[in-house]
Amino acid sequence: MKFNTLFSEATLGRLHLPHRVVMAPLTRSRSTQPGDIPNAMNANYYGQRASAALIITEATQISAQGKGYAFTPGIHSSEQIEGWKKVTDRVHGQGGRIFLQLWHVGRISHSVLQPDNALPVAPSAIAAEGQAFTEQGMLDFETPRALALEELAPIVEQYRQAAKNAKQAGFDGVEIHAANGYLLDQFLKDGTNQRTDNYGGSVDNRVRLVLEVTQAVTEVWGGDSVGIRISPTGTFNSMTESAPQTVFNHLVEQLNPFNLAYLHVVEQFGDGPVEDFDFAALRTLFNGAYIANGGYTGETADSSIQNKSSDFVAFGMPYIANPDLPERLQQGADLNEVDPNTLYGGDEKGYTDYPSLLQALEPA
Ligand code: PHB
Repeated sequence: MKFNTLFSEATLGRLHLPHRVVMAPLTRSRSTQPGDIPNAMNANYYGQRASAALIITEATQISAQGKGYAFTPGIHSSEQIEGWKKVTDRVHGQGGRIFLQLWHVGRISHSVLQPDNALPVAPSAIAAEGQAFTEQGMLDFETPRALALEELAPIVEQYRQAAKNAKQAGFDGVEIHAANGYLLDQFLKDGTNQRTDNYGGSVDNRVRLVLEVTQAVTEVWGGDSVGIRISPTGTFNSMTESAPQTVFNHLVEQLNPFNLAYLHVVEQFGDGPVEDFDFAALRTLFNGAYIANGGYTGETADSSIQNKSSDFVAFGMPYIANPDLPERLQQGADLNEVDPNTLYGGDEKGYTDYPSLLQALEPA
């Protein structure tokens, strides 16, 4: 057995976790259409991964406007709540724990994905570079419509309702997605937020929407069943911020009164560069658990927790191809390779057919 620290028990908010290997949120675009409804195949996928210390679901839109990719699931209709119940029942039946990730994509969408083919919305009318994944194929991002001040409180209420829906669907908690260039991150960073009202300009103003969403969501769940994901240095989705350390240190300080279960930090996105940033400062400032994410191996995860740089480590890509990732890491077993062609959309192939160690040992 390897990695005594990674495989030590720990408390996370209200939960007692058997080890520290977390399944990161992963967009797989395989919900039932029309309606963006989680299905039996999705329940199989998450059930296969129930040995994670905690599963964080794929990003899940809080409203029709919050959708930005074809086939992603929502948490704003009764059919979606029923669909997610199949997932939470399966994971709990296998002894696991699962949080839902609450998502509004902001400008990272396309009018063909939006209700009434409206333009996507954002803090300011600034387009991202690149293309949206739609049912008609990849389409260039459009210049979004800047949200009016009166539209922000209703969006906070959509987060509140989605948090209530997640409770009804049987989740153990929720994660607020404030990372990777989606709506909340667009408000945090000055490359995308050029507002002149109370939600733009100063750092205090730019963190306001995230704090209002956190207030609403913790009123539903209690802080100890809520986490938040941030990506201070992330440039994915054309993001820029001129003073990330200032913004994110301030955000974390302002989050402390909510007594959140955890801060989930994307320290590196994909195999992109590691930017110069003092993540240890965030960890020191924050009063809850720290989940590190981005390019970790069993070795680096174990030493990160051992040297107190983090409490938990979330694995993304390795979880796609290795349903039993904790067992493989602990045993030092080889990892299955990810098939890059089956990441988004499609069927069981490249989704629920990656073998576990036990299956690999059994003759077909
Ligand atoms: C993606 O679909 O590529 C995606 C979704 C959510 C993220 C990051 C990437 O936070």
